[in-house]
Amino acid sequence: MSTIACQRDRFDVPEDVHYLNCAYISPLLRAAKAAAVEGLTRESHPWEISAVDFFEPLEHIRGLFSQLIGATVDDVAIVPSVSYGIATAAANLPVQAGQTILTLEDQYPSNVYVWRELAGQTGATHRVIARPADGDWTRAVLAAVDDRVALAALPNNHWMDGGLIDLPTVSKQLRAAGAALVVDASQSLGAMPLQIAAVQPDFLVTAGYKWMLCPYGFSLLYAAPRHHQGRPLEHNPHNRLAGDDFPRLAELKDGFARGARRFDAGERAHFTLAPAAAATLEQLLDWGVDNIFETLSAMTQAVAARAAQQFGLETPAAGLRAGHFVGLRFPPARFPDGPPVALQQALREANVVVSLRGTSLRVTPHLYNNDADISALFDCFDAVLR
Ligand SMILES: Cc1ncc(COP(=O)(O)O)c(C=O)c1O
Repeated sequence: MSTIACQRDRFDVPEDVHYLNCAYISPLLRAAKAAAVEGLTRESHPWEISAVDFFEPLEHIRGLFSQLIGATVDDVAIVPSVSYGIATAAANLPVQAGQTILTLEDQYPSNVYVWRELAGQTGATHRVIARPADGDWTRAVLAAVDDRVALAALPNNHWMDGGLIDLPTVSKQLRAAGAALVVDASQSLGAMPLQIAAVQPDFLVTAGYKWMLCPYGFSLLYAAPRHHQGRPLEHNPHNRLAGDDFPRLAELKDGFARGARRFDAGERAHFTLAPAAAATLEQLLDWGVDNIFETLSAMTQAVAARAAQQFGLETPAAGLRAGHFVGLRFPPARFPDGPPVALQQALREANVVVSLRGTSLRVTPHLYNNDADISALFDCFDAVLR
């Protein structure tokens, strides 16, 4: 593992924009934008798009993504959103009356609503694990697992403040209880290492447009081989066995495309987004997720330490926070209304872009950030909080 020098040149982030908000939407790589523009140009020349273009670029992307998570090309589906991937999981995991579905307090809703609905339909109970006072989510989840649990639907870290869930440990206990694991890795994958062999999820989905640095609308779903005979949400010639013989597309097939491809959403070829996603995944693999993680961890650790020492702001303790991600909490005794409005205004005026989720001010840098960005953040803190 090694740290990576600032990569701002690879992005289109002006020097006077201090964008510390990867957890919201990542800026695209210049290379991804160029690939998307090329794709868009092809879409305006559809005579250049042939049947093979509906399949091969996606196979390349499945290969890159499977490399990133230690899976195989057959385990990957192309989906438009996290909610689509989670709905796919919900349609394929058995849940019975009297069983329990676990999620976390204040979890991102795309990984909550469908479970609440499924519980209502099946007579199961949707149990929300309360935020633990000591910040130890792993312990809180482990304490909630018993033999009534049908499944847990979890992130790798909380989207508000980076609070960590040790997925390999939780997964082991869930398996021992005969329960399934669904992971929404949107706030970690691409920046924090995750290997399928260690986590063994039933389904794992990630939004593309955050730490994966991909375009909005391009998300990726992993489905474990034991679910490859599952039921997709949609049916179209491309997730059936129709192949690229377009003149014969009207011949209906009983079978599905191999592996997780059956879970692909309709119109998944994305002639504009897919080239951008491919260019991005290639860059992520080239940097190495371990190295990205080490680099971002050093940045967020410095932010957390300075925010605590100089301004008394709180973060999940070291070891209980995902390294790449930090949410600053404003102690209620001093800040009863959360982050002061004057601070939010100062940040806006200084072009420091962070996000407020709940009462947590998320500071989520990536490789395009430099020391000037961090200084601009603390200049605002200095001006308002001292
Ligand atoms: C943890 C998490 N999951 C998912 C999403 C996006 O979900 P969807 O793709 O359903 O819009 C977000 C967006 O902020 C998120 O923070």
